[in-house]
Amino acid sequence: MRSIYSIIKKAKDYLVNEEVIAIPTETVYGLAGNAYSDKSVKKIFSIKNRPYLNPLIIHYGYLKDLKKDCYLNSNFKKLYKKFCPGPLTFILKKRPESRLSKYANNNKKTVAVRFPKHIIAKKLLKILDFPLAAPSANISTKLSSISKSDVKDEFKNKIKFIIDGGKSNVGIESTIIDLIGKPIVLRPGGLEIEKIEKVLNQKIKILKKTKNIKSPGQLSFHYSPGIPIRLNIKIPKKNEAFIQFTKRGKHKKNYFYLSKNGNINEAAKKLYSLLRYIKKKKYKSIAVDKIPNKGLGLAINDRLQRASYK
Ligand code: TXA
Ligand code: MG
Repeated sequence: MRSIYSIIKKAKDYLVNEEVIAIPTETVYGLAGNAYSDKSVKKIFSIKNRPYLNPLIIHYGYLKDLKKDCYLNSNFKKLYKKFCPGPLTFILKKRPESRLSKYANNNKKTVAVRFPKHIIAKKLLKILDFPLAAPSANISTKLSSISKSDVKDEFKNKIKFIIDGGKSNVGIESTIIDLIGKPIVLRPGGLEIEKIEKVLNQKIKILKKTKNIKSPGQLSFHYSPGIPIRLNIKIPKKNEAFIQFTKRGKHKKNYFYLSKNGNINEAAKKLYSLLRYIKKKKYKSIAVDKIPNKGLGLAINDRLQRASYK
């Protein structure tokens, strides 16, 4: 087996040559390129078939590097200290002298930034002399990838190098918090909002679906497995795949569950792989049980609602 160092070295070579590769993070796999290079960033949008108005998250290894691109405020400092590296993305004001490609953030005055925790992502970022722009490694509007084989599934041979970092530990995208004004969550995700509220010592609102595109990932129809999903269902139709939160009742062949013991973090981790599995089994539709709306349950329900949007 190749050592982690030789893999990271190979990844670095691709990135320095302005290629796009897939990297593991603790939330989901990312499609990564040099965030200072227009060429790399444009490649990301084209491989993903993503519109430029949906900006990317920039990933950093060191705080000192983030400081070159953004202004840090006091809420950021509190949250950074407590949760980074980890599944939390911040919207901050971009510095005018920043070298970030304008394509990465659609030429906006703000930028989304995060410090991933996965050991490979961390080590890779620390040997690069540029940050990585990395959206989730999936075709636009489809399910995110949480393993190397998911990424292959999504892109076939379109990506030259995929680093295998095992299954993503959190399994759902990062929580996005906008810190430009009063803190507001744009996307519930892998870090519980309750924990953020404790640190900032205030109640934090979640942005409601809106036509004003602050975060398109926030808009309807996203995270789709490609088949219809019905939510809050007690009894499924006969040929429908049925996803329960935790195993209950007599199980038929079409019954699945997200967590054996009703653990919401385990459920979040299993969500995307179960949806992928059900699709592969050629089910034509999915019914989902009620999922508790607490902790990571907020992120699960958010993704299911968007996946079910018609
Ligand atoms: O866990 C994650 O966040 C993963 C891993 C790979 O880090 N990345 C991820 O990226 O989920 P993506 O591109 O799938 O979602 C990024 C979201 C989008 O909804 C985008 O609209 C929002 O971040 N975003 C990026 N820049 C923004 C900005 N300046 N203002 C508001 N929203 C922004
Ligand atoms: Mg995404």
